[in-house]
Amino acid sequence: MTTAPLLQSNIPGYPCRRGKVRDIYDLGDRLAIVASDRISAFDWVLPTGIPDKGRVLTGLTRFWLDHLGIPNHLLSLNLQDIGPAFAERSAELQGRTMLVRKTQVTPIECVVRGYLVGSGWKEYKQSRSVCGIPLPEGLREADALPEPIFTPATKEESGHDINISFQKMVDIVGRELADTLRQRSLEVYRRGADYARGRGIIIADTKFEWGTLPDGEVILIDEVLTPDSSRFWPADVYKPGSNPPSFDKQYVRDWLETTGWDKNSTPPELPADVVAGTQRKYLEAYERLTGTPLV
Ligand SMILES: Nc1ncnc2c1ncn2[C@@H]1O[C@H](COP(=O)(O)OP(=O)(O)O)[C@@H](O)[C@H]1O
Ligand SMILES: [Mg+2]
Repeated sequence: MTTAPLLQSNIPGYPCRRGKVRDIYDLGDRLAIVASDRISAFDWVLPTGIPDKGRVLTGLTRFWLDHLGIPNHLLSLNLQDIGPAFAERSAELQGRTMLVRKTQVTPIECVVRGYLVGSGWKEYKQSRSVCGIPLPEGLREADALPEPIFTPATKEESGHDINISFQKMVDIVGRELADTLRQRSLEVYRRGADYARGRGIIIADTKFEWGTLPDGEVILIDEVLTPDSSRFWPADVYKPGSNPPSFDKQYVRDWLETTGWDKNSTPPELPADVVAGTQRKYLEAYERLTGTPLV
């Protein structure tokens, strides 16, 4: 069953902050994170939503956190546990809303790359390194790296995140935390990518966020190994030598490229077939990875 896309939630009574995709309600020592059906492309949030997308992102995060079994922020997906204002809106919020422990967010995007693509490929062509990490000669665009690499970035309020060296991360968060997050991020990526590969999806790269609880424990937060925080490629058509189509956003990007939109002004509404095709891909990613269709 498809419901109308949710572009924005409005729950009265709590301070709310909106990211590109998620609405975040502050409940004191906890947060309620509502994944809307907003979609962004070329750094713009589009005016059209993708039905079921928020549920797919939330469902996949839940799946991975279960599968990985590492300390994380998720407390509940039950709206009753969050509060009556949420439970009353279950038609809209069920399946897309997580109750999480509020942490102090480490101000670093913990990026792990298993393949040479995007900004990594650009840098490699110039310097044979990615974020200062030297790599072997002769790699092609989208080739698998000899082993996954950790390439941190700073979280920027507006626009693009900025890649930084590991040393710069050490300067910002300290040696001990930087070492811990590098090791844990690489480990989670490896486990996730291995699993996804067996389900026909290449996770080319991904971004993790980590946060610290009041007692000092560092846990995994935010969304985890979703198509929005990662590059998913369909494994059956993967071919190095060019930039592979993205599993989920390719319809949207391809269509936008045909419209003449300048990527500098409000983007156009998506036509119904592009919405339907994109929705199908998100649902397919969910089903491939979890083994069950999204209900
Ligand atoms: N457990 C948590 N504690 C504190 N902040 C969190 C937690 N989980 C996620 N966040 C924050 O919530 C926001 C998620 O919203 P999102 O739409 O992804 O925003 P953005 O556009 O910044 O990516 C991010 O800023 C993330 O750092
Ligand atoms: Mg985000």
